[in-house]
Amino acid sequence: MPVNAIADYSTYPLISPLLQARLQPEGIEVTWGDQRRSPFHYLWLRDNCPCSACVYSVTREQVFEVADVPIDLTAQHTDVDEQGALRVVWQDGHESRFDPGWLRAHAYDAASRAERRAARPRQQRWTAGFELPLFEYQAVMEDEQALLDWLLALRDAGLTQVRGVPTEPGSLSHLARKIAFIRESNFGVLFNVQSKADADSNAYTAFNLPLHTDLPTRELQPGLQFLHCLINDASGGDSLFVDGFAVAEALRQEAPQAYRLLCEVPVEFRNKDRRSDYRCEAPVIARDAWDEVTEIRLANFLRGPFNTEPDVMLPFYRAYRRFIEMTRETRFQFRQRLEAGQLWCFDNRRILHARDAFDPASGARHFQGCYVDRDELLSRIRVLQR
Ligand code: OGA
Ligand code: ZN
Ligand code: ZN
Repeated sequence: MPVNAIADYSTYPLISPLLQARLQPEGIEVTWGDQRRSPFHYLWLRDNCPCSACVYSVTREQVFEVADVPIDLTAQHTDVDEQGALRVVWQDGHESRFDPGWLRAHAYDAASRAERRAARPRQQRWTAGFELPLFEYQAVMEDEQALLDWLLALRDAGLTQVRGVPTEPGSLSHLARKIAFIRESNFGVLFNVQSKADADSNAYTAFNLPLHTDLPTRELQPGLQFLHCLINDASGGDSLFVDGFAVAEALRQEAPQAYRLLCEVPVEFRNKDRRSDYRCEAPVIARDAWDEVTEIRLANFLRGPFNTEPDVMLPFYRAYRRFIEMTRETRFQFRQRLEAGQLWCFDNRRILHARDAFDPASGARHFQGCYVDRDELLSRIRVLQR
């Protein structure tokens, strides 16, 4: 039986060699060159067998299912082979071989798990002194390293600017497609942000837009938002940004009960016109399985009436108002006017954006925008890093 040691597109550097493997009642304990010991349950090892009978080599996806073997499956034999891989011969004669770099990268002893947790990319929360990461259109379009640098800044700082973008309508889509396909919405593949008489959104007026995320009315808010300036000759209309994660963290410190309410009480957001009616009910702050903030959902102009228990209504209003008040504090704000040929690209699920009112009689203002999902950004980064 051919035994592939990795069923993956990544490579796993050998941090420390495998010294020894020993059969135990519930699994195999291995000892590494740096003396770390990692237990692996029999089921876990069998579940992760990378051989060509368990993983289809073309798709690199598993064909074996862990429910195909008895829950009390054990091994007859284990050793470290001449290539330094972990070899396991199972009760039923099946044989598995594990690359030591792969095994170490997936070990689940406490030290290995803590190391992996610490090595996650850290988002840099920012406040008023934010140093805007700037990129050049030409470089990002032509050079993969410049592209990767831009995408990493999007992932980690959440807000970037690209300069030197052609001002022909539609040119934004070339840049967006460097990441992945564009996420279309009822506003189009690209949307035109211009003051118009028959506006189907406050965005398409000359009003100020308070700090918000786009499309909180959708189950999945768009991950990246692009706003490309074709013309900005009107007075007013400057851009304003706030790191929503920084505000959430400050609220958590200042008023933990208010923070908890914003994490737990769902709020309805609505976007309706003559042909569509989108609604989503979800809390303003979303967290992941590790209790870290992953998303802010907020656009006061799209919000429906609060619907919570009478006892919670006033505390919830206090929490919601406090969050908005904090976003209005200049200590959190980054403000800059966008000029023709410049483009904002930011994490719409993290960074709140706003614009000042402008005077359409004083000159033209035309921005184009589009969305790309966060998954596409992260996938593109991983592939560029392979
Ligand atoms: C929008 C928006 C900002 C601007 O269209 O959602 O936030 O500067 N526009 O016009
Ligand atoms: Zn196998
Ligand atoms: Zn917007």
